[in-house]
Amino acid sequence: MSQLFSPYSIGSVTLPNRIVIAPMCQYSAVNGEASDWHLMHLGNLAMSGAGLLIIEATAVEPEGRISPADLGLWSDATEAALARVLSAVRKYSDIPIAIQLAHAGRKASTAAPWDGGGLVEIEQGGWQTVAPSALAFMPDDPAPTALDTTGLQRILQAFVSAAQRTYKLGLDAIEIHAAHGYLLHEFLSPLSNQRDDEYGGSLENRMRFPLAVFEAMRAAVPMQMPIGVRISATDWVDGGWDLAQSVIFAKALQTLGCAFIHVSSGGLSPLQKIPVGPHYQVPLAASIRAETGLPTIAVGLITEAEEAEAIITDGQADMVGLARGILYDPRWPWHAAAKLGGQVDAPPQYWRCQPREQKALFGDIRFRQR
Ligand SMILES: Cc1cc2nc3c(=O)[nH]c(=O)nc-3n(C[C@H](O)[C@H](O)[C@H](O)COP(=O)(O)O)c2cc1C
Repeated sequence: MSQLFSPYSIGSVTLPNRIVIAPMCQYSAVNGEASDWHLMHLGNLAMSGAGLLIIEATAVEPEGRISPADLGLWSDATEAALARVLSAVRKYSDIPIAIQLAHAGRKASTAAPWDGGGLVEIEQGGWQTVAPSALAFMPDDPAPTALDTTGLQRILQAFVSAAQRTYKLGLDAIEIHAAHGYLLHEFLSPLSNQRDDEYGGSLENRMRFPLAVFEAMRAAVPMQMPIGVRISATDWVDGGWDLAQSVIFAKALQTLGCAFIHVSSGGLSPLQKIPVGPHYQVPLAASIRAETGLPTIAVGLITEAEEAEAIITDGQADMVGLARGILYDPRWPWHAAAKLGGQVDAPPQYWRCQPREQKALFGDIRFRQR
């Protein structure tokens, strides 16, 4: 029995297997509104047989976009655009779908990667960025504005109302983006947060705003909607955010009702030294899972079915996240199921492709009604 293909519950949502499609920015929205690209992209991934599809970083306010073409969920128009995409996807797939809600903080207002990824000036359609402290990501970049109490309150409310819109859209779960050097991570890390008020300084103070955001969102939507958090478990910089602080943060989130933790790393500082290699972030996930018992997603260069299976059977994580590997091979879960003796849900239009040697791959499809 494959453990990778065993069901798993996060709160009241049951995933058919442990494979999670990690959030991936598409830089293909117009004024934050999902486009036909999202229909194709999410439609494609919704047929992958994965256990959970997490929609890309979705900005809770326009200034929270990484690029002007980021997806957003801050208005009736952005909500309606996503509703159109989701209703088409839902006609043909019942894959559980989560959304990553995000604010890019000081890393906002940049060009899409294929346009170089550099800063977009205000005159070119960019905007003034905000952060815990007026410290730029790159020393030569213009400094972000340090958020005051009014700004903090505005952003907290933006997260809350995006959570409410997520619930209205009928999505299955929310992932809060507190990783990769974006706004909430910027509050956590002493490298980017040098405030001298109650939101900076001690670990308790640096965690205060991200925890307040979590708590307010949790209170704003019914408990049936699981809310989890993606973190960077370490900055990979001496004196920065690290695993020990991540464990304390995860425990605090757990107390507030966090449904899962998605363990990534890095992205906060250009000084990071990342020991990149297969599974390099899995030990971080394993530590957090061991210390907290929170449902944990491991992610990062997990590419082989047998390795993903081992991560689950060895108890290093409860779910595995795939990003680049599943863009490359959107049927990765089908192929993994074929290798490991698991089963995936496939649309009936494709049932005839089931390989002869894998008669059980799509379950007993002979008499199944759709
Ligand atoms: C095209 C692309 C877009 C990404 N966008 C996001 C994003 O929106 N939010 C996020 O947390 N991580 C994002 N990431 C990081 C991935 O979710 C993932 O953590 C990373 O790629 C490592 O997993 P992998 O080795 O399976 O690709 C992105 C990665 C890629 C390749």
